[in-house]
Amino acid sequence: MKTKIFPKFPLKGQRYIAATLLLLFFVFPAYSLATSTESTVYTEIQGSKEIAYLVKDIDKLDKPYNYLIGQTKYQVIEILGILAAIGALGFGLLHGLGRFLATRRIPVFLEEVGREHIYNIVTRLGHWLNAFTIVGLLISGFVMHYAGPDHMSGYIHNTLGYLLILQYALFLFYEIATGDIKQYIPSPKELVEGTPRQVLFYAIGIFKREEHPYHMKKEKRLNPLQKPAYFSIMFGLMPVVIFTGFVLLRPDIMGFFILWIGGLENMKYVFIIHLVSAFGMLAFLLGHLYLATTGDKVKQHFEVMVTGFHRIYKYRLKD
Ligand code: HEM
Ligand code: HEM
Repeated sequence: MKTKIFPKFPLKGQRYIAATLLLLFFVFPAYSLATSTESTVYTEIQGSKEIAYLVKDIDKLDKPYNYLIGQTKYQVIEILGILAAIGALGFGLLHGLGRFLATRRIPVFLEEVGREHIYNIVTRLGHWLNAFTIVGLLISGFVMHYAGPDHMSGYIHNTLGYLLILQYALFLFYEIATGDIKQYIPSPKELVEGTPRQVLFYAIGIFKREEHPYHMKKEKRLNPLQKPAYFSIMFGLMPVVIFTGFVLLRPDIMGFFILWIGGLENMKYVFIIHLVSAFGMLAFLLGHLYLATTGDKVKQHFEVMVTGFHRIYKYRLKD
């Protein structure tokens, strides 16, 4: 008999331990921040002198950061970022127009044959809270970027920044502890066969009013294109935007990281990564809003995210 060398991870108990450790990872810095009286010392060599800064008192440094909120612009980032956003918007408009014309050309009758419960209250509430916070961060972030850090946008951005960290910690805990994270991970077969099939459907099949190649099921709610897309946003882009945002917001407690990247003069790179990922988030959101309308009916996916119930339709060409 074959013995299993590695147990299938995550086993139930292990999941909770892993998730709790991850949560502690977020709680510890918060705790040490709240209780700390000492500041990180940041030393810098200038000529032959070694200068020590208390990074907690960073606002008082006479040496300013090498970027200014709302004023530092990099042309390449601006052009690529705006192009990505316009691209996502343009794609939605053109694709949507194509779909609208196809609906008139090839009428299809959709008969509702049942409903399935897909999303529990935690996932739905989590999604809408996340959507609210990120939309707020996008608006306040880009107001700062293009109009300068007036009192309100800076205040809103910082407050929502803390809120997003809290939400994201709880999201990670939930995904790992319940094992729901598996829903986001595509198998190699899905990536090789399923993803191109779903892309082809969006490129061709949808305009012929063919049936969707994959349907939502409770145990497999995301299609092979959604899986890698949502995985890279939730477990790739999100940690990047949160981490860089936190370093910009609290250089006092992130002194160790600032030292690691080689000093305050390299903060501009943190700023650049934050800005690039903010543009990435904007492009994702625009694409996401449009793709959410591509269900069997326009409102189908919105409904499932609100009520938790997915309506199942049977396709029939109208005679
Ligand atoms: C989806 C999430 C986020 C988006 C879209 C976003 C967007 C932006 C944008 C566009 C800027 C540029 C302002 C400029 O050009 O001057 C900015 C700056 C900033 N963001 Fe975010 N941000 C997000 C998350 C966060 C988080 C989670 C934090 C903090 C925990 C944060 C903290 C900051 C700070 C402090 C600045 C100003 C730069 C500075 O003070 O040095 N951001 N953000
Ligand atoms: C106003 C803004 C938003 C709206 C109207 C919206 C709408 C929706 C809808 C209708 C769905 C379900 C069907 C589908 O996958 O197409 C969905 C799923 C999802 N959305 Fe959003 N969304 C918004 C913002 C966001 C943001 C900002 C993020 C993340 C950064 C996000 C991440 C996700 C993820 C990961 C899923 C899949 C959930 C799962 O099955 O676990 N959404 N969204």
